[in-house]
Amino acid sequence: MKKGVRKAVIAGNWKMNKTVGETARLISEIKPLAEGAGCDVMVCVPFTDIFAALEAARGSGIKVSAQNCHWAESGAFTGEISAEMLADIGVEWTLIGHSERRQYFGETNITVQKRVRAALNAGLSVILCIGETLDEREQGITSEICALQLKIALGGVSAEEIKRIIIAYEPVWAIGTGKTATAAQAEEVCAEIRALLAKLYNTETAEASVIQYGGSMNASNADELLDKENVDGGLIGGASLKAADFGVIIKSASR
Ligand code: PGA
Repeated sequence: MKKGVRKAVIAGNWKMNKTVGETARLISEIKPLAEGAGCDVMVCVPFTDIFAALEAARGSGIKVSAQNCHWAESGAFTGEISAEMLADIGVEWTLIGHSERRQYFGETNITVQKRVRAALNAGLSVILCIGETLDEREQGITSEICALQLKIALGGVSAEEIKRIIIAYEPVWAIGTGKTATAAQAEEVCAEIRALLAKLYNTETAEASVIQYGGSMNASNADELLDKENVDGGLIGGASLKAADFGVIIKSASR
């Protein structure tokens, strides 16, 4: 199975942006752009926008994702939201392990693994984020870091369960910096991730898996990145906050 057979997924990571009113507006603008697109379209919204996003996206095929979930089903975890709570309100997807969670909120490979497990147990699908820092890239350990993050996150995930996981390769140095990985750099790591999936599971699983690139993907560089054999879509921050830009990326992924 080759790239042409995998359906690209373009996901907007809104991070800590958009009020309820803005959510409804932006999704109504994205709707016509997503209609008939040759890729799947998703928005990863703040918890407070989930209801509005589900309502606005109804009937459109646009998928709504949370940006995180806790690993426990319930309990004394002030300020947290469980995977069960997300499933209960009709959310089917969540991001896990975004580098901003790792960088600012003490997320580790082990807590990522626990959150992936909790999400899968609750019936959710997951966009699992991995990626190296600038320091790690400069030390030449990008492959090792990504492999380590991936292996730990997928510890205990079965071949059946991995069908519910999208991997997002997001080099930390490219996130929100305007400094995109070159298409060749993105392809190199995405190909390594696919090879590792083949080792951990099997070739068929690896070839069916969706692997996104994320990090300053925008309307001008999306074509080049998405052209690559092992880049099956994008996780897009800044450029997902304006429908026009996001629409161009959806078009690029639909070619
Ligand atoms: P960016 O963010 O597109 O603004 O770099 C990507 C992400 O963090 O998922």
